[in-house]
Amino acid sequence: MFYKPGEPHGLPHNPLISCVVPRPIGWISTLDTQGVSNLAPFSLFNLVRYDPPVVMFSANGRHGDGGIKDSVVNARTTGEFVYNMATWDARQACNESSASFDRGVSEFEALNVETLPSKLVRPRRVKNSPVQFECKTSLVIELPSSGPASAPNTIVFGDVVGIHIADWALKDGIIDIPAIRPLARMGYLDFTSVDSVFPMPPIGAAKV
Ligand SMILES: Cc1cc2nc3c(=O)[nH]c(=O)nc-3n(C[C@H](O)[C@H](O)[C@H](O)COP(=O)(O)O)c2cc1C
Repeated sequence: MFYKPGEPHGLPHNPLISCVVPRPIGWISTLDTQGVSNLAPFSLFNLVRYDPPVVMFSANGRHGDGGIKDSVVNARTTGEFVYNMATWDARQACNESSASFDRGVSEFEALNVETLPSKLVRPRRVKNSPVQFECKTSLVIELPSSGPASAPNTIVFGDVVGIHIADWALKDGIIDIPAIRPLARMGYLDFTSVDSVFPMPPIGAAKV
């Protein structure tokens, strides 16, 4: 089949977000200007540069009150955010943290997600997350919208200034992915978690 975005595809559900899978989930923590912590998952998230490391998350649509999503507002106004790796064990809290909580309500407190202080930025980290990146917002891009009524699409880039890896997540000096079971988003209502890996010989200058 072939279809053009925005035109009928003839399928019962939009296939688009099943076409780029699995997507890692950036569980993004931020702080608002009043000092309230915020936590939300973003599957339009990735590491986009190795050296020095840069991550991005992309916010589509609006907060429940019609404004810009808290994660974007906070990362832009305070200049900081933390990427927390989402895992199978945290899947429920991760999903629930996507609810549109009122501004001023901390998802950490509402969902009893334990935190740890960060070292170089003010937003706190998810205590049970095996990997956390402390980030300084470096660039915020608004994607052009296709009409006056269309929702905002904002991409937030951050320089990674500090990296935490939990001791339990390391085995013989290697991050133990099958033990961590990172959570990833598929299309429709589906998620997956990575519970197996296989090696392939590197071609050229593979980063190891
Ligand atoms: C697994 C998962 C992935 C999500 N990925 C995105 C995403 O990439 N971009 C986005 O705008 N919303 C995404 N959402 C929805 C946001 O998490 C949701 O709008 C949330 O309320 C935003 O919170 P905030 O206003 O505190 O930033 C996702 C939800 C879930 C459950």
